[in-house]
Amino acid sequence: MAALEKNIPYHVGIIMDGNGRWATKRGLKRSMGHKEGAKNLKTLVEHIFKSGVKVLSLYALSSENFKRDSEEVNDLMNLFMENFKKEFSYLKEQNIKVVFSGRREPLREDVLASMDKITKETKNGNLAILNICLNYSGQDEIVDATKKIANLVVNKELAINEINKDTIYHYLYQDLPPVDFIIRTSGEYRISNFLLYQASYAEYYFPKVYFPDFNQKEFDMALMEYQKRNRRFGGNAK
Ligand code: IPE
Ligand code: IPE
Ligand code: MG
Repeated sequence: MAALEKNIPYHVGIIMDGNGRWATKRGLKRSMGHKEGAKNLKTLVEHIFKSGVKVLSLYALSSENFKRDSEEVNDLMNLFMENFKKEFSYLKEQNIKVVFSGRREPLREDVLASMDKITKETKNGNLAILNICLNYSGQDEIVDATKKIANLVVNKELAINEINKDTIYHYLYQDLPPVDFIIRTSGEYRISNFLLYQASYAEYYFPKVYFPDFNQKEFDMALMEYQKRNRRFGGNAK
């Protein structure tokens, strides 16, 4: 445990990938893989915050995932509803502030209402932040921030030469610190439109396991790997 106590990434992002393959490998419907992944989540989130991580961004659904069969999309929406209802009181009790990143359209009304309720009721949580990226696209996030900033400039509330890196951060969906460590399960080596602006100096880790098999032990292994990295931010090697 001692090694885990130091050099903990402040902001961790997880691309929860491989649910479909987990299910297909077992002859099950893809949605069963999503269900299995969700089952795992509460214990994992609890463990990650206990490790000292302060912000956790979970990639739950990309905007591009709406290209999938409507049956899978619908099963995912039902799963979100089920889990929001089930886990919400726990998050509130634990003092975790839940925020959502992504566009509202074309999310279902009941899902949006549930997201709004969770946001409102956990807004005073001060232990840690859980950022759920749902109907999220990193490129659209930058487009949406640009529009907000352009609007301020047009209304003369902001001068063009006042725009800097922090201004962009401020107008992203959530005003969160840069992401330090991104984990993508399932052995795929790509970012798939996740936290593009925030990840400029992130460290990456790509475990082979599918998300339903990514447990506390797997997270500890990821953390140990992070602790071996030498982050330079463009400076000299230490
Ligand atoms: C990730 O698992 C979950 C979502 C995208 C919602 P996938 O559904 O992408 O699983 P694979 O990559 O097809 O195995
Ligand atoms: C990224 O996974 C989105 C989530 C895990 C929610 P995908 O499975 O959609 O990404 P690609 O299509 O393989 O790049
Ligand atoms: Mg996938």
